[in-house]
Amino acid sequence: MDQPKRYLVTSALPYANGLKHIGHLAGAYLPADIYVRYLKAQKRDVVFVCGSDEHGTAIPIQATKEGTTARAIIDKYHPIMEQNFRDLGIAFDIYHRTSEPLHHETAQEFFTKLNDAGELEIKESEQFFDEQANTFLADRYIKGTCPNCSFPGAYGDQCENCGKSLSPDELINPVSTLSGNAPVKKNTKHWYLPLNRHEEFLRNWILKDHANDWRPTVLGQCKSWIDGGLQPRAVTRDLDWGVKVPLKEAEGKVLYVWFDAPIGYISATKQWALNNEKDWRPYWEDKDTKLVHFIGKDNIVFHCLIFPVMLKLHGNILPDNVPSNEFMNLEGDKMSTSRNWKIEMQDYIDDFINKENGGSQMADVLRYYLTSIAPETKDSEFTWQGFQDANNNELVSIFGNYVNRCLVLMHKLCKGKVPPLHTESLTDLDKETFAEAQRTKEKVEALLEQYKFRDALFEVINLARTGNQYMQKKEPWIVAKQTGDNGLPTAEAQASIDNTLHICLQLCANLAILINPFLPFTARKICYLLKVVDKMLDWENAGKIKLLSTGYSLRAPELLFRKIEDSEIAYQLEKLKAAVSNREPLIVNEEKTTAVEPVQETKSDVKPEIVFDDFAKVDLKVGKIVAAEKVEKADKLLKLSVDLGFETRTIVSGIALHFKPEEIVGKQVTVVTNLAPRKMRGIESNGMILMAEDTNGKLHFINPETDINPGAGVS
Ligand code: 2FM
Ligand code: ZN
Repeated sequence: MDQPKRYLVTSALPYANGLKHIGHLAGAYLPADIYVRYLKAQKRDVVFVCGSDEHGTAIPIQATKEGTTARAIIDKYHPIMEQNFRDLGIAFDIYHRTSEPLHHETAQEFFTKLNDAGELEIKESEQFFDEQANTFLADRYIKGTCPNCSFPGAYGDQCENCGKSLSPDELINPVSTLSGNAPVKKNTKHWYLPLNRHEEFLRNWILKDHANDWRPTVLGQCKSWIDGGLQPRAVTRDLDWGVKVPLKEAEGKVLYVWFDAPIGYISATKQWALNNEKDWRPYWEDKDTKLVHFIGKDNIVFHCLIFPVMLKLHGNILPDNVPSNEFMNLEGDKMSTSRNWKIEMQDYIDDFINKENGGSQMADVLRYYLTSIAPETKDSEFTWQGFQDANNNELVSIFGNYVNRCLVLMHKLCKGKVPPLHTESLTDLDKETFAEAQRTKEKVEALLEQYKFRDALFEVINLARTGNQYMQKKEPWIVAKQTGDNGLPTAEAQASIDNTLHICLQLCANLAILINPFLPFTARKICYLLKVVDKMLDWENAGKIKLLSTGYSLRAPELLFRKIEDSEIAYQLEKLKAAVSNREPLIVNEEKTTAVEPVQETKSDVKPEIVFDDFAKVDLKVGKIVAAEKVEKADKLLKLSVDLGFETRTIVSGIALHFKPEEIVGKQVTVVTNLAPRKMRGIESNGMILMAEDTNGKLHFINPETDINPGAGVS
């Protein structure tokens, strides 16, 4: 396609069932945002839509976990997710919700049109039914033993132990998670999208027409689905949470979440159009629109096979590309919400953005690192060390340092003003350096058009590197020493200084334009320092040498990025390990538990309700630490002797990073005394010490107000 008339860019709608992590951010949101910012800087007509996916079993399941309703869950998570994206600079034109009536109408109309046209098939089949709960069971509501690995807690759609996709029929001894009873089989009717009818279309459209422009990983997955034989896919479910199937005979049925969710892109566009007095139709109906879906690799089949078939049947345009990312691992392991091996966007925002004045720069630091390791062609890995290195060695030392040096020297050697350009004395190096800005612009453009964000970012940083080298070669601070009788630089020397700094400053302005799609907060900060309006960031200005006027005074330098300290990285690593090893954050009882997980004030940590008898089983007593020593080869463990009145116990506790042994001897503590013993580093631990954590991450013992005899009961 030559330049299209307009663009519609979508990011996968995240489920509103919990906070999202930076792996999600890197997969479907950040690259889309970079692409859109680039298109917008080019003044192209582009709409960027996203929103919360508020249906599917994920929502009621989370509601059960939190002891609340599905509605309460989506109302809780939707606004947080929206704000998280905003804080990280993801600038959707609309962040919609699939619970909105407009979406329900849109999805129902879609279904009706396909059904009326005879494009859906109805089939009866036997499905699992819970007689006590009087409901059919979605796959997620059935648990049993995995036929593959014998894990006893496998779900009806997948075993989370071995990762195998399952159907409920394959489970050994299936039980309903609603009642705990064995489900029965009952006949039910569902509507299916017969993908098999569209095999030829898909084969041609994907594997031929897009053989050269879609990512090989995406093509590979599509090919294996198509070659494996396409089957009809059910588009309805027996469930009471979702978009009702708009047919009388389908009482109690909703559209399958994967049928309604992508239609969410259309309803979001409609809402955007309403908000902005625009027409939504061309974005979905005019062939001159370029539709691009940004997703993670687990969504490929839906966006490349199923939704396109739905779009074709409904008379809409098809996606031009579906840039899907592979997975981003974290510190050597797969990111996982269920195992707590993740960095939530909210956590990053709390730790790095909200804590600092002007913390938005820290949003850019995350954007930078995630883009520099984007899993575009294969899985990649986030490490906190890599994050620190990227910041300290690239953003601070190359990019930030360059801009800072330019401003410092300009103030020192050019009276705080943009110096003139003496064209007659330009050297080859001057000309060559500036030509590099033009070349970088072209390279970045070409790479972004091909969704190669990682390489594009590298080119921009390389331009800053070129700027540093240029300055190093020209050494204006040395040239300034060539003084005349008046003690000032000679005319020749001043001309050289002027040219160097003029070019350096124009290069700074260029860097702001080129970095803007990636690091929007930084680009604006550079505009502020250069005293230019944000309009300068229009892409057409890149590669120009006259962005800053001669004689114009600029602001005093301010650092663009700060160094990240080792202690900050150590804290994050500690936090990660604590979260995964112990999801009961205030109790330290396992060897794996190296510290406690910080209490998240913004999140609900309230556990499900228990009855008094549950609580009464726990034996809590006041104890007194009578001896404490470090455990050899275990940085985080202390071996404590705790006097419980009736006996003295050995308890191993993961608090060594917080307390020195000598400072806790004599302290009163609360002890869980009837926990089964556990061996840690060969030492048997007979109990647990309760701890609380303050907002700074410091641990405190839970102890009585006044001294009490060891052994006193706590209730
Ligand atoms: O995988 C997910 O998180 C889905 N909620 C993505 C939906 S994308 C689109 F179809 F809306
Ligand atoms: Zn398994």
